Amino acid sequence: MNLLAELRARFATSLASLEGFDGNVQAALELIRPSTDAKFGDYQANCAMPLGKQLGKPPREIASAIVDKLDVADLCDPPEIAGPGFINLRIKDDAIIRGLQTAAADTEHLGVPQVSDPRTVVVDYSSPNVAKPMHVGHIRSTVIGAALATVLRFLGHRVITDNHIGDWGTQFGMIIYGYKHFADEAALAKSPVAELSRLYRLVNSLVEYHAAKTTGLPTIEQKINQQEATVSKLASVEPTGDKKIDKQAAKKLRAAETTLSDLQNEKSSLKKKIAAVDDDAELAPLAAAHPDIGKAVLDETAKLHSGDKTNLELWERFLPACLEANQQVYERLGVAFDHTLGESFYHDRLAGVVDDLEKRGLATESDGAMCVFLEGFAAPFIVRKQDGAFLYSTTDLATIAFRFEEWQPDAILYVVDHRQSLHFEQLFATAKLAGCEEIELRHVNFGTVLGEDGKPYKTRSGTAVGLMGLLDEAVDRARQIAGDSRVLTSDDERQQVAERIGIGAIKYADLAHNRTSDYVFSYDKMLAMNGNTAAYMQYSYARVRGIFGKAGVSEAQALSGAGDLNLGSAEERALGIALLRFAEALDKVVEDYRPNHLTAYLFDLASAYATFFQNCPVIKAETPELRMSRLALCALTARTLEVGLALLGIECVERM
Ligand code: ARG
Repeated sequence: MNLLAELRARFATSLASLEGFDGNVQAALELIRPSTDAKFGDYQANCAMPLGKQLGKPPREIASAIVDKLDVADLCDPPEIAGPGFINLRIKDDAIIRGLQTAAADTEHLGVPQVSDPRTVVVDYSSPNVAKPMHVGHIRSTVIGAALATVLRFLGHRVITDNHIGDWGTQFGMIIYGYKHFADEAALAKSPVAELSRLYRLVNSLVEYHAAKTTGLPTIEQKINQQEATVSKLASVEPTGDKKIDKQAAKKLRAAETTLSDLQNEKSSLKKKIAAVDDDAELAPLAAAHPDIGKAVLDETAKLHSGDKTNLELWERFLPACLEANQQVYERLGVAFDHTLGESFYHDRLAGVVDDLEKRGLATESDGAMCVFLEGFAAPFIVRKQDGAFLYSTTDLATIAFRFEEWQPDAILYVVDHRQSLHFEQLFATAKLAGCEEIELRHVNFGTVLGEDGKPYKTRSGTAVGLMGLLDEAVDRARQIAGDSRVLTSDDERQQVAERIGIGAIKYADLAHNRTSDYVFSYDKMLAMNGNTAAYMQYSYARVRGIFGKAGVSEAQALSGAGDLNLGSAEERALGIALLRFAEALDKVVEDYRPNHLTAYLFDLASAYATFFQNCPVIKAETPELRMSRLALCALTARTLEVGLALLGIECVERM
């Protein structure tokens, strides 16, 4: 049962008969929410106040008109009108018990109703550029995307997951160039993944070195000169004596100085990068011997795209090793995709995309490039470069067209770093002009994972094993928790528990933070046993499960106690309501594609359980009936935690 949805449906009927009201019912229904304080009941409807304004009547009068027509007698005690016109709703214990019984009888879905209007949703997530090491942002995409797909499916939607890998871009030009000039055949035969990633890093560092020297550094020096001039101009402004004006001037000066010091920092990190190559006995001569490596890499990429036999063969030879490296990460994370249709899959459709846009009059030539000029954007959306090369944008347009033909989706979600926002805004605007008005195209963006220094987190030296190393380290640290546990008996069990705690910690940290904010990657925080962490949730689950052993009942037997539930104490009742709110939490997750609503819910549930457990003896309950009833609440808690964590891709442990 979804209490909130049920109440909203009842209010919708009542509002429909409210005299004079023909406004936005949805907006009014959104003002029905769980109460923030138990003394106002379980739910509160705050819609009478804005309706009063709209209809020019006292809100209390509106509230009582709504309540008069409201048919909730089976669900709530008689609604109370409080203050200026709040409608307070207290759910009847009978109704809570009925809801819990439905949940207990439906161990798979816990009574969460299936949607009545299933949508077809394509979820594009993970989508790393292969041939270069996956980074921590790709984990965030993978983890958030997988959770959203699972929740949508659980609610009854048709979900198609697609890993849109970058398997056709410059990074292949890099390894092809690297192979042609620097390959170590023996290493390649022995460990292709390691050798390819060495080649990638080598070529990439040489490309970056030359780019920094020829354009990066001069550009930044020019900017610094300009900024220095700005700062000295601002610094020489005489005080006017007007406090407000002087304060503003000082503020401006400080801002300009900050910009200057940012630029200087940027310059020194560029210089460091250059020096790192210059001071390296191996790299320096290579850099000197390959001055045009940047252009050469682009040429190799272009040759691949135009069907050059050698480059195509190399691509075919290298791709499996690149995919294998990523597959290891996916297996470790327990993630799979319905499809992995990368950029290469679309390459022969790209010319058609541009032709089509041209025919529709959407793309026009500008300086030799084909561009879509979009209202509201300073720069055009370029779909073919001057040199004839297609872009990321062109591939994404081809991908939308393919997905549309293939699956007729109602929505396509792109779980991608917020830094690509502009790309997606332009992509969606173009797709809409080209006829995709009906599909919900959504950039489910997320913030950057930061290191403890506040800068984007880098896996140690960004090596190929970087991501695996990151997961290994979490598991190593979790082994300490498992090692400290007195209940774990064998090394095998300790290892399994450590794996689940470690991987769970990383996933949970990615999910529990509001996806749009940046967050600091900290092993200590994510592995803490207290607070909103995976370890705490897993521990809570294991503790609940421990009770069945002590009571000598199976979970199924405990669940059968739901036939005769007793919610006599405030703590039992609060736990009962918390259990029923699972459906609401899932609705909130899909409303704006935010898994943190589910982690927050599970954390609240674990807290409600802890309070219940402290105050209500289970095994030593006063009567056998009460014992059974409380065991049923425990079993429902365990199931809800387990199912909820599984939706997030997090595995539980039986004991820890
Ligand atoms: N390969 C891109 C990257 O690593 C992400 C692709 C996201 N999906 C898409 N359809 N553009 O940044």
